[in-house]
Amino acid sequence: MTWSALQSQQASDPATSTVQAVTAEYGQQLIRNTAQLMGVGQTDPALRKSGNNLACSSCHLESGQKPGNLSLVQTAPKYPTFSGRDGIVGDLADRINGCMQRSMNGKPLLKDSLEMLSMVAYIEQLDRQYQAMGESSRAANEPAAFVEPDRQANVENGTRVYQERCQICHGVNGEGLKATANLADGYLFPPLWGPDSYNIGAGMARVLTAARFIKARMPLGNPILSDDEAFDVAAYMNLHERPAMANLEQDYPDRKLKPVDSPYPPYPDPFSTEQHRLGPYAPIRDFNKAK
Ligand code: HEC
Ligand code: HEC
Repeated sequence: MTWSALQSQQASDPATSTVQAVTAEYGQQLIRNTAQLMGVGQTDPALRKSGNNLACSSCHLESGQKPGNLSLVQTAPKYPTFSGRDGIVGDLADRINGCMQRSMNGKPLLKDSLEMLSMVAYIEQLDRQYQAMGESSRAANEPAAFVEPDRQANVENGTRVYQERCQICHGVNGEGLKATANLADGYLFPPLWGPDSYNIGAGMARVLTAARFIKARMPLGNPILSDDEAFDVAAYMNLHERPAMANLEQDYPDRKLKPVDSPYPPYPDPFSTEQHRLGPYAPIRDFNKAK
């Protein structure tokens, strides 16, 4: 169903007239209050699509409005685009469903659902606002981009960084801090591993993706880690147990496109899963180049 068809159906059908219309505002609420609207806080099982109680904005900070790492501000014009992970050209809704099934450890939304159309409308609106504001007003204002150290991640050092810089918010066991006693209200500080976290197929489960985010964003409000600290703490975080995902062997049908830091096999090279999780990556890249 198209957006306009959906809106005219809502206008003409009294039974659905209390249903919210497709709006960018609803899209933003879904991205910010994901646990309440799509997680355990949602009493309608048909809308309970999230498998954890993170919010999209746990990673896409300020509902994606913050420029720089994981911003959603310049996202809309990139789609449709080819996805190496899926092996097909996908649109923005397909990309959102990638995060629904992996970062949110949940189920895909129907592409013509109110929820999907509203999130797409919000991300498109963000980009129009950005175009109107001009490039210079949206400078990232974050530390220099993460540069990968040429070594294996040091998990012992990562443990120390975690205890000194992260534990106060994310908890001794990475369990985060709930906003209230009721999990339906989501988190004040989201969990970093364990059953209510992103699953092993998520982008954040890759050590280099996580290190880039952590260098740019964490500790929240005071991102001061060096490249070495960001790399080591990302490795420490992602060595912990998190939800599994089915059919991961079907990702990257063209194996050459699989990122070196993907934490799950099969790989296009003979290096161990441990080396793909912790580095060093130069020998893997050299091997793949020489092939
Ligand atoms: C655990 C962290 C996490 C959560 C939670 C999360 N995402 Fe993502 N998202 C990512 C990462 C990592 C990427 C990949 C960025 C890249 O490719 O560089 C991504 C990519 C995206 C993209 C593509 C961005 C682009 O510019 O191409 C969209 C759109 C998106 N996410 C939407 C969502 C929505 C909507 C939700 C909630 C339903 C969500 N994400 C939840 C981590 C997360
Ligand atoms: C002052 C509290 C605070 C500290 C300290 C902090 N974080 Fe966070 N972190 C947050 C909050 C809050 C969010 C969610 C963003 C939001 O809701 O705006 C977050 C989000 C995250 C996320 C993405 C969401 C998820 O649950 O996976 C990761 C990964 C993360 N932090 C890692 C770290 C690491 C590693 C450190 C230590 C280097 C750290 N954080 C230190 C508050 C903190």
